[in-house]
Amino acid sequence: MQIVRVLGIESSCDETAASVVENGRCMRSNVIATQIDLHKQYGGVFPEVASRQHILSIYPVVEEALQRAHMSLDNIDVIAVTRGPGLAGSLVVGMNTAKGMAFGKGLPLVGVNHLEGHIYSSWIYPAETPQPPPEPEFPLLALLVSGGHTELNLITDHLHYQRLGVTLDDAAGEAFDKVARLVGLPYPGGPSVQKAAAEGNPTAFEFPRSRLDGTWNFSFSGLKTAVLRVVRKLQEENKVLPVNDLAASFQACAVDVLFTKTMKAAREYNVKAIVVAGGVSANRALREAFTGQTEFPVHIPPLSLCTDNAAMIAAAGYYHFINGQVDPLDLDVLPTWPLS
Ligand SMILES: Nc1ncnc2c1ncn2[C@@H]1O[C@H](COP(=O)(O)OP(=O)(O)OP(=O)(O)O)[C@@H](O)[C@H]1O
Ligand SMILES: [Mg+2]
Repeated sequence: MQIVRVLGIESSCDETAASVVENGRCMRSNVIATQIDLHKQYGGVFPEVASRQHILSIYPVVEEALQRAHMSLDNIDVIAVTRGPGLAGSLVVGMNTAKGMAFGKGLPLVGVNHLEGHIYSSWIYPAETPQPPPEPEFPLLALLVSGGHTELNLITDHLHYQRLGVTLDDAAGEAFDKVARLVGLPYPGGPSVQKAAAEGNPTAFEFPRSRLDGTWNFSFSGLKTAVLRVVRKLQEENKVLPVNDLAASFQACAVDVLFTKTMKAAREYNVKAIVVAGGVSANRALREAFTGQTEFPVHIPPLSLCTDNAAMIAAAGYYHFINGQVDPLDLDVLPTWPLS
């Protein structure tokens, strides 16, 4: 079998990443330079700071990814790069780096949707894995839960997406981040809410579960506002915030809504598998909900591939490339770019 080696590049938000993946699955290297410490002081990603840091990190990160794969650009067949969605100034850094290498080496350039990348994280396995794990089977249902997006997609085959539902307001990750800020937990919010929740009582507060029955959409702003109301009330009464209980009760609601709706859609569309992807798929309670059921095979990436990385871009880029996609060198970035 011919091996297609894809160098993936990701710089859509606050991680500068590069990775070499063979045939969309076998990960030879995966390097991520995170900017979390840089943005902590702002309580969120500061776009100009992010793009300038990408400029500093991108070449060392690409070099390290090639080195760890024991390769040079001469061994690479395709350059895949995140085209969007994301911060324009951040995307441009990865895009121009990819173009420079594609131009210099005469390699095909493939622009990839970042959300599609998250979904393709479930195809990847580390090169040292003795036996490749089974691929997710089509048709499948993908729950994408990240910092900027929350949606349910029916995927009938490689690259064929049908969006069933989407969040009408906050993304799930955004809700974790905002609730963390409300209760005084550090950035990034998702992991700190999870940590606090582990010490708290998930039934301490009865927060609303926005089910939006009759649609496959989600809504998290009511839940966030309910947490805000409780926090304000407790503060007015000069009470110490029961941070762990608040985190646990919020997390239980968010996970319940995501899990219940996904399972319902999986039954309705009679899928062969469920894929959970995006930063929030790192959440232990969410992972346990899905791995605890036996109705559908579930694919959730390892923790290292849940949040932004370039292996997922290389993986998705491979499937586009073998499907005939090669992009021109005047390819623009797309800060807003729906998956389907
Ligand atoms: N353990 C966790 N529990 C809950 N949320 C988490 C956890 N780990 C990370 N997150 C959340 O995941 C989000 C980051 O995920 P990701 O990197 O996929 O988002 P993004 O790239 O910023 O957004 P998008 O992919 O939509 O463009 C953040 O909102 C973060 O709080
Ligand atoms: Mg992301």
